[in-house]
Amino acid sequence: MPHQSRRRVTGRKSRLLPLRGEACIYPAHNVLQVMERLYLDHAATTPVRAEVLDAMLPFFTRLSANPSSMHAGGQHVARELAAARSRIALALGARPQEIVFTSGGSEADNLALFGSLTGRFERAHVVTSAIEHHAVLHAAQALRERGHRVTILPVDREGLVSGDALRDALDGTPAVVSIMHGNNEIGTIQDLSNLTAVAHERGGLVHSDAVQTVGHIPVDVNVLGVDLLSLSAHKFEGPKGIGALYVRPGVTLAPLIHGGGQEGGRRSGTENVPGVVGMATALALAVAEQEETMQRVSALRDALIDGIMRAIPHASLNGPRTRRLPNNVNVRFDRIEGDTVVLGLDLAGIDTSTGSACSSGSLEPSHVTRALGLEPAQARGAIRMSLGRTTTRADVERVLQVLPPVVQRLRGLAGALTV
Ligand SMILES: Cc1ncc(COP(=O)(O)O)c(C=O)c1O
Repeated sequence: MPHQSRRRVTGRKSRLLPLRGEACIYPAHNVLQVMERLYLDHAATTPVRAEVLDAMLPFFTRLSANPSSMHAGGQHVARELAAARSRIALALGARPQEIVFTSGGSEADNLALFGSLTGRFERAHVVTSAIEHHAVLHAAQALRERGHRVTILPVDREGLVSGDALRDALDGTPAVVSIMHGNNEIGTIQDLSNLTAVAHERGGLVHSDAVQTVGHIPVDVNVLGVDLLSLSAHKFEGPKGIGALYVRPGVTLAPLIHGGGQEGGRRSGTENVPGVVGMATALALAVAEQEETMQRVSALRDALIDGIMRAIPHASLNGPRTRRLPNNVNVRFDRIEGDTVVLGLDLAGIDTSTGSACSSGSLEPSHVTRALGLEPAQARGAIRMSLGRTTTRADVERVLQVLPPVVQRLRGLAGALTV
């Protein structure tokens, strides 16, 4: 895989981690082990596809002019930028002028919430859910500190937001409703068109963080009915540091970043042209292959969930069985911490996570698994395995060989510690 860059780990001897399919000595845990690493953390980020990198490369060199420049080179790049914008819009059922490029999902979420309120309402109502990404929850918190009212809707045991609870929360005050499309930790896919209809009935403006769904399942802004929608390229085999916010015509948006007036004045800064071209290429490929990928990856997801439930006693699935992202597996094991399972799998060459990439490493149980009504100890037992387009049945079988003894060993240790 010539296009993937390698992660450097720091240890006594810093060296390069192997890529999938490569065997090498892995020193991060001070053990000499020859292994082939298996990456099951695609919800945190995905490797850039070879075709995507190929499409981007000329824009770092031969086509590196600023698209705002008047000369022929600049105008050529401006046309390429416009073409990429059109391809992204088309994939979402939107029009090119409705797409605002950002530095990623976090900025798109912040732009949606701050941008739609700033300068318009002194005191508005922000309604969101308990399982949102921190890019939404912390933005809502900051808006609360500026005097806006914030309501955080609970979710049921599968992570679903109730339309009735949303209706009850909207009382006629100008409101922005931000409900994510697919959850990054437990994979729950909301019935967004229904929630959007409820919010619109009550005069609310609807934003959705679709960072985990765009490219993975059908996302059409008109079918979903949303006014604002966030996406991020690195979740669908595009590059990091580029994303977009879809903005429905008529929605006014104050910029977070002021400057040269790019993106129709909604987001200043010289455009990240290689990133945009990479995002457009990755999205076009993902959408063209979506049906086939969804079928194949969700069958692997189900085989992994079923295999774990068969092989490991006292294991439970977090999140729903259906209405679930095709690539998401999130399970918990009674009596042991998810962190220790992740480390055990890491030693065996398998990359997984306890939840979102941002909350990993924190001792606090994730707000998402807690919102399902789990006790802190149960919530801390969760691990997430997120599959990718290139995950195979052999990969699933490898996890099913490695995971049961890891859990058994950890339970043995936990038992030994509590006697
Ligand atoms: C649901 C969700 N929203 C937002 C983000 C943030 O996206 P980015 O990393 O592009 O800022 C992520 C990434 O982890 C995510 O999973």
